[in-house]
Amino acid sequence: MLPAYLPNPVAALFGGGTPVDLGRNFSDGKRVFGDGKTFRGLIVGILAGIGIGLLQIYASGSFGWENLPVQTYLSITLLATGALLGDLCKSFFKRRLGKERGTKWPVADMYDLVAGSLLMVLIFDAGWFFANMTLLIFIFIMILTPILHRGINIIGYHFRIKEVPW
Ligand code: CTP
Ligand code: MG
Repeated sequence: MLPAYLPNPVAALFGGGTPVDLGRNFSDGKRVFGDGKTFRGLIVGILAGIGIGLLQIYASGSFGWENLPVQTYLSITLLATGALLGDLCKSFFKRRLGKERGTKWPVADMYDLVAGSLLMVLIFDAGWFFANMTLLIFIFIMILTPILHRGINIIGYHFRIKEVPW
């Protein structure tokens, strides 16, 4: 899941600039995605996810890690892209509910990247999905995600990278 977990914090670190919705509003008069979703965040985040995936590919088979899922160029691209597309979709619906950028939307803010990344692999690389995604691993992801999400965001808040600790 590393290629799915890394894009969000990297987007928070290096994102900014032109928003993906170019500042435009949706038909309901509210922003399509909001200022928190930028092209730079999307691109740098996805590249970081693919980068760590490449490290996983090169490291596979070393260090006695033979039992870990074997990443492929396709799986790392889908995981990284899906994570931030899930985040983007979440913001779309968050805006429709009238929640401002950066406000809390408890469950969605945490699992958007899991839903996005796993859906992408399920759709475009079902073979990899069913070879690696057991029920046990899925449960583990559902437990690990909120812990990592909360932990990293608190760190980001303390270092003033994030404006809010969620
Ligand atoms: N970010 C970005 N581009 C993205 C995703 C994130 O530039 N595609 C940056 C933004 O600076 C954003 C920060 O990472 O403020 C934290 O991301 P996130 O918590 O997902 O965004 P929020 O600002 O909370 O906006 P939203 O309410 O839409 O989730
Ligand atoms: Mg947020």
